[in-house]
Amino acid sequence: MSDEYVLPRKATPDSPLRLAVMISGGGSGLRALLKYQQEADRAHVTTVVIADSESAGGLKHAMDAGVESFSVTLPQGLKGDERRRAHEEQIIGIIESKDIELIVLSGYMRILTPFFVSRWKGRLVNIHPSLLPDFPGAHAQRDALEARVRVSGCTVHFVDEGVDSGPIIEQREVPVLESDTIDTLRDRIKQAEHDLYPKVLDDISSGRVLL
Ligand code: GAR
Repeated sequence: MSDEYVLPRKATPDSPLRLAVMISGGGSGLRALLKYQQEADRAHVTTVVIADSESAGGLKHAMDAGVESFSVTLPQGLKGDERRRAHEEQIIGIIESKDIELIVLSGYMRILTPFFVSRWKGRLVNIHPSLLPDFPGAHAQRDALEARVRVSGCTVHFVDEGVDSGPIIEQREVPVLESDTIDTLRDRIKQAEHDLYPKVLDDISSGRVLL
């Protein structure tokens, strides 16, 4: 494992940071980011969208915005670590061929292996629907409700080799209401995510985030 974080270059709207956004689902975060990038000159641009499934709803947002997209499904005929490695090699192939400078995991629900993470440390960020280190994993909203917390939120962090454990860049709190269900809490957190993470990408792109 590597402790070496390498941050991206300092970018400008004239020479924006080239992003790959990785998704698994509906891609509401991707849609918010694309809208933000279209509204004004930003120091980052979404160059490519990569989904781990052909049915990821977010692929449509890429198409609507004229952004190139790929669905890279797990390769057939392999198992276990070999399969994950082959899958990640395909993704790395796309990322390298597009000169990507920063990868954003925007609802990407696979855990990346140290093979992938160590190559991109400092240039790989994740959006997670809780106030980390509380409630890591795939059921953050359910876990927050079960713990009966009164405040939850979202976290943007650099990815390390652990699960939702890398250095935190920024967080945003939202209230948890007595009447909340997983769905209502998920939606409230997403609203906060959609506001927070494009701005965090501004900060990273313009060199305001240090490790
Ligand atoms: C977002 O809430 C994001 O934080 C979460 O998935 C959702 C994706 O929504 N990510 C994780 O849970 C990663 N552990 P979207 O597909 O509508 O953008």
